[in-house]
Amino acid sequence: MRSLIDIVDLTVEEIDELIATANDIIANPDKYAEKCHRKKLATLFFEPSTRTRLSFEAAMLELGGSVIGFSGASNSSAAKGESVSDTVRAVGCYADIIAMRHPKEGAPMIASMRSPVPIINAGDGGHNHPTQTLADLLTIQREKGKFDNLVVGMCGDLKFGRTVHSLIHAMSRYKGVKFVLISPDELKVPEYIIQELDKEGIPYEETTSLEDAMPSLDILYMTRVQQERFFNEADYIRLKDSYILNMDKLETAKKDLCIMHPLPRVNEISVAVDDDPRACYFKQVLNGKYIRMALILKLLEVA
Ligand code: CP
Repeated sequence: MRSLIDIVDLTVEEIDELIATANDIIANPDKYAEKCHRKKLATLFFEPSTRTRLSFEAAMLELGGSVIGFSGASNSSAAKGESVSDTVRAVGCYADIIAMRHPKEGAPMIASMRSPVPIINAGDGGHNHPTQTLADLLTIQREKGKFDNLVVGMCGDLKFGRTVHSLIHAMSRYKGVKFVLISPDELKVPEYIIQELDKEGIPYEETTSLEDAMPSLDILYMTRVQQERFFNEADYIRLKDSYILNMDKLETAKKDLCIMHPLPRVNEISVAVDDDPRACYFKQVLNGKYIRMALILKLLEVA
């Protein structure tokens, strides 16, 4: 039985297979409409979500399966003090696979050690978000046609942004990738990730200037400043609008730049950018459903 806790739980070859399956689902949805007949997905979301929870649920429904779950710890027996381990042991009596989001880093990993069914990490605190990364990779593959030799700019809250951490781990495995890490000093990528990049000899630069970085980028991955991870409201208010991407800032960008954002956005991309053909963030949302369909099939070992 396999769970997905960290994006590197999947090999590069397995990610290629998931992307191929997702592309086949997009081309031939009817072929997959009954693949998960009589299977149940449980979505256990201890933290708010729109895209991840609903795309998992839509994915299972489009595979012919059904969905149970809760959205908010207050609606579950976690509110009475039940542990994550006991929760998944109980839910595993009812469901064939579980997607879990939790505010505590490592909670889905702990859950996977006691769960009778596969656990999918749907985001754990400021740590990882591997299925967002799968959506990001499908988007990059469909937009750029490759993963090698790309200059990937990541901008905003690189400290608490779990999607950033997972995407760096995923993209680090491809040849010739360079990262440009654009953030205020207070929101730089965690030191453990910088040490991993140094150890693997992966090129990166850290900067506070989106304007300076813009002309070199093939991908610009914007992120929201994660208010819910701040200890101090005044720090959040000071940092929240550090970067706002607008059409003026895109003047120096490549014509085939791929502008990404895991969403939700607050203020960091002007809505005027949505109409630019380089804006890919709503494609990411849709791709998230297809790649999660592919992942459910893989973890349930449905042919
Ligand atoms: N990208 C993402 O995780 O969005 P939600 O928080 O809406 O699930």
